[in-house]
Amino acid sequence: MKFPCRLDKFISHLAEMPRTQARASIKRKEVSVNGEIITSHNFQLSQQDEVLHQGTPLVFLGKRYYMLNKPVGYVCANSDELHKTVFDLLDEPNMSDFHVAGRLDIDTTGLVIITNDGDWSHKITSPKSNKFKTYLVETQEPITDEALEQLRTGVMLHNEKDLTRPAIAERLANYGLRLSISEGKYHQVKRMLYAVDNKVVELHREQIAGIKLDENLASGEYRLLTADEIKL
Ligand code: URA
Repeated sequence: MKFPCRLDKFISHLAEMPRTQARASIKRKEVSVNGEIITSHNFQLSQQDEVLHQGTPLVFLGKRYYMLNKPVGYVCANSDELHKTVFDLLDEPNMSDFHVAGRLDIDTTGLVIITNDGDWSHKITSPKSNKFKTYLVETQEPITDEALEQLRTGVMLHNEKDLTRPAIAERLANYGLRLSISEGKYHQVKRMLYAVDNKVVELHREQIAGIKLDENLASGEYRLLTADEIKL
């Protein structure tokens, strides 16, 4: 939400009601700003204004950033007709203008960041920012030295014009590697492994830029990012 903000938009967002209901409520003289009843839905609010709706203070909570340990079976979308979404796991007020900064597939687990700060999420997800995302990958076939070398140099994905950017690839076991990439193409990790004649069996994201998934978060749990993490 940006300030100055129209009164009906503010009420609609914070009292969680459609804009038409917010306008009707304003007309019914249920809204005051700094102690004065306001009946115009066009009224422009500044962030310092004190707004009461039916006697209850409405306070904009500002920019918020959450890290979630995503389980399998949840989609990274605001709503979905078929599946549960990551927003079903967040019990927080006024989430309507939040989004996922860097989506994961339904069968991928691990670090997801959810925020209402579009500029910030653009900075961490845009390929131009060159921020690395790190994944633990379990594969169907053993990981060969040749495949590691190809991933490090860049591979050609189906339907793409350019090689992937150089990745950091480290073997962890015969069937496991840690892979860090600085792009976010559709199904990129799965397609990269496919390009080296392998297949992803399990995928887990452990880091985005400098932000590591908190190991105290069980699957499905979340917490606010710390001020230091937001700076990263
Ligand atoms: N790459 C994928 O293939 N899937 C994800 O969920 C994330 C990266």
